[in-house]
Amino acid sequence: MTKKSYYVTTPIYYVNDKPHIGHAYTTILADVLASYHRLLGTPTWFLTGTDEHGQKVQQAADKNGLTPQQQCDQTVVRFQELWKRLEITNDDFIRTTEERHKVIVQEVLQDLYDRDEIYRAEYEGWYCVGCERFFAEKDLVDGNCPECGRKVDAIVETNYFFRMSKYQEWLIDYIETHPEFIQPDFRANETLGFLKTKKLQDLCISRPKSRLAWGIELPFDKEFVTYVWFDALLNYISAIGYKRDDAKFNQWWPATHQLIGKDILTTHTVYWPTMLKAMNVPLPKTVFAHGWWLTGRTKMSKSLGNVVNPMEMVDRYGVDAFRYFLIAEMTLGQDASFTEEAFIRRYNSDLANDLGNLMSRTVNMLGRYCDGTFPALGSGALDGAPEQELWTAVQQAVVEMESSIGTMHLNGGLAAVLAAVRKVNQYFEIKQPWTQAKEGKTEAVGVTLALAAESLRVCAALLYPVMPEKMSALRAAFGLGKPELSQLRTFGVIKAGTVIGNPGILFPR
Ligand code: ME8
Ligand code: MG
Repeated sequence: MTKKSYYVTTPIYYVNDKPHIGHAYTTILADVLASYHRLLGTPTWFLTGTDEHGQKVQQAADKNGLTPQQQCDQTVVRFQELWKRLEITNDDFIRTTEERHKVIVQEVLQDLYDRDEIYRAEYEGWYCVGCERFFAEKDLVDGNCPECGRKVDAIVETNYFFRMSKYQEWLIDYIETHPEFIQPDFRANETLGFLKTKKLQDLCISRPKSRLAWGIELPFDKEFVTYVWFDALLNYISAIGYKRDDAKFNQWWPATHQLIGKDILTTHTVYWPTMLKAMNVPLPKTVFAHGWWLTGRTKMSKSLGNVVNPMEMVDRYGVDAFRYFLIAEMTLGQDASFTEEAFIRRYNSDLANDLGNLMSRTVNMLGRYCDGTFPALGSGALDGAPEQELWTAVQQAVVEMESSIGTMHLNGGLAAVLAAVRKVNQYFEIKQPWTQAKEGKTEAVGVTLALAAESLRVCAALLYPVMPEKMSALRAAFGLGKPELSQLRTFGVIKAGTVIGNPGILFPR
């Protein structure tokens, strides 16, 4: 049975610092996907949140002279405010310090401990504070963390371990027989490469309180808190009612898309699936790892101090242009480079010139030649060859946008819509409504402008998930509300006699 619901998640972000463009990107991507699925009529659930325990947050609190909880409470607001500003439509927001999450983590731990999936042992090895992960001596690269390259600390202590190693063969087989599980497929190869060449270790899932007190206490040993990743990954199911609300849980789980950046591939494609396997919970359909936003050639990151502040970009250029640029510019899976020059170039060409200009021309001419109301059309409005050609191009954009969502080539889908927009501009050059008007061909002008407006209507529906504010304004000018799936393939939705509104300049240069 194919599942008729869509559940999309983002990573839950650390609250050690304020959000930057990388966090904004994953969340916008999830929002766009959620919004498209809602438009397609699929029941949709969209979860994001914050990762509030662990050493990173503890250290940030210490540095800022705050308690860890204060650090969380102050920083979470930065995320929540940004999501509001970016028009993010998440259905839920989970914080790992919430009771509803903590009790589930403890129940899972107790259950795994009772079934001997978790055991106590002495650990000796290396620890990376930045990644909050342990590494064996042989895995270090030049004595440093193999993930982030930073220095690691030597550590000897008693801890609790999850028997992850016993799932190694099972996981290899699962990944090989479920090509959709890790996307894009070169990322599956990355995980497989690692699983096939290295012996998987058991996972240390505790921290002694003497070293780190900020975490969820182990239910079977008060001297320890839970390792932050073991705690954090469970948010994806604690938030949708795992062990509490079976109806809700079964409606959404397994998740359709778990979006992550490639920096957290191992935790999501090795730790997470083996945890779920031990818990007897099915795996998510797809973990999708996107690439990095770079500043020039280096990763943008808080620790490197080269981040672009999303709030500043939004203040300068508006929410919609910002969302559009991020989605249009990144080929999913690859890295992309953020520069303000590229931003301005794309803004001017796609949004100000092509789309914005088309809208202004259409509204102005409807005002001048049709008394500012939408013309009544005869049944033959689509009979002419140029009209046929234009409407076919618009319908092609519908098809391509829909398939680009399935294949996660959103930038390709956007390019198809922009191609349709340019078609409308070309259509005007062919039909020359200003000449038609001068020659007194009232009905013909009506058809030309109606075709343009109907095309714009469909394009605006397809762009709505990416640019909700501006596309709502565009549609409102034609008397339309939220886009509906049934109207994407229908011609003649704008009602005759509709008074055309003035949305102003949508994208000022
Ligand atoms: O890793 N380019 O949180 P985090 C693109 N709490 N995306 C980027 C990016 C960049 N330069 N920088 C960050 C954590 N991201 C854990 C997750 S999940 C159970 C726990 C995005 O605050 C990208 O999605 O370090 C990346 O995976 C995430 O932010 C890491 O956020
Ligand atoms: Mg990080």
